[in-house]
Amino acid sequence: MKLAGRKILLTPGPATTTYGVKLAQVVPDICPREKEFGRLLKSVCTELTRIVSDSEKYTTILFGGSGTAAVESILSSVVERDGLVLIVNNGAYGKRMCEIAEAYGLGHLVFHSPAHSALDLTALESLLDKSRRKITHMAVVHHETTTGLLNDIDAIGALCLKYGIHLIVDAISSFAAIPIDMRKMNIHYLAASSNKNLQAMAGISFVVAETELLEKNNPSKPKNYYLDLHAQYRFFSETYQTRFTPPVQTLYALIQAIEELKEEGVDQRYARYKKCWETLIAGITRLGLKYIASDNLHSKLVTSIFEPNVEGYSFKEMHDYLHSRGYTIYPGKLDEFKTFRIANIGDITFKDIESFLMLLETYLNRKGFVKDV
Ligand SMILES: Cc1ncc(COP(=O)(O)O)c(C=O)c1O
Repeated sequence: MKLAGRKILLTPGPATTTYGVKLAQVVPDICPREKEFGRLLKSVCTELTRIVSDSEKYTTILFGGSGTAAVESILSSVVERDGLVLIVNNGAYGKRMCEIAEAYGLGHLVFHSPAHSALDLTALESLLDKSRRKITHMAVVHHETTTGLLNDIDAIGALCLKYGIHLIVDAISSFAAIPIDMRKMNIHYLAASSNKNLQAMAGISFVVAETELLEKNNPSKPKNYYLDLHAQYRFFSETYQTRFTPPVQTLYALIQAIEELKEEGVDQRYARYKKCWETLIAGITRLGLKYIASDNLHSKLVTSIFEPNVEGYSFKEMHDYLHSRGYTIYPGKLDEFKTFRIANIGDITFKDIESFLMLLETYLNRKGFVKDV
């Protein structure tokens, strides 16, 4: 078998994977209803739980699907018909949670905040104080992949504790890179997926939740079907199977990716990513490009960069130039500014970023882009 050539994805997931992860998918065919597969699923759930919490208090529930499936599963399963969820919207993924709430007709309030500055926690608390209806849940994105902005989950968790609110966190782009402790941060439900900092393949999304809540909150008339969190939890607890066909080979890749994460460690992985980010920032700054989100609020995982102000520039042309040379970059997602995004996650090192910067420099020089002084 010929091994695929190495391509560098500077996109916020799927990220570049190791050969070990790619090859782990080549396994003898197996029916996912077999006991041995169930044992694998069970151990994957335990390992995923351990990355952010402990199995005494928390459980992981797997779904076949992309990250949005996990977020949608939580919102549509746990916010009851008479419940009220306060959604923090400071980027595209906060907005997506609002759209999910609307699609399911959930009672919800929205706390709007700019995409590039820290949340005003005093204003957030005053909304909790002023609400005439009891707010039952708060939903927030940990790392807003739109800009690279990190929301302060410790502070939000403390607010939720004070007001007796269950906290839902979309940790899709922070899980397995930025250390998370669900107990300490008072997170009740967390959504993540296989294909970002976990460095596995796309196709598995999962929810880590307080087991007691999964046991207790069991609506008699669910609003969803495939994404019913409680039904998926119950079925798995009884059978060690998912209710519907799981992405079998993707699971083997995930097992390998978890092993590789354990070898590297979350802290070390984040240190590697941060070194990539520092290299990127030094490089783009030298070239004269500017980026959104100040360093103290930055995840150091994804950077939203202002497009170069030069005649004839097009994202597509720059993308195609870099893509044909092995580096894939990503468009921006902000309405108010023209940006593109570079993520520095996956199986890459700062050397890959240096090579990327050389190509970017050549491209910008060809366009006649000059640094503002
Ligand atoms: C914070 C966040 N939430 C949700 C998603 C959606 O994930 P998916 O495209 O896998 O459904 C993403 C994807 O980039 C994300 O970064």
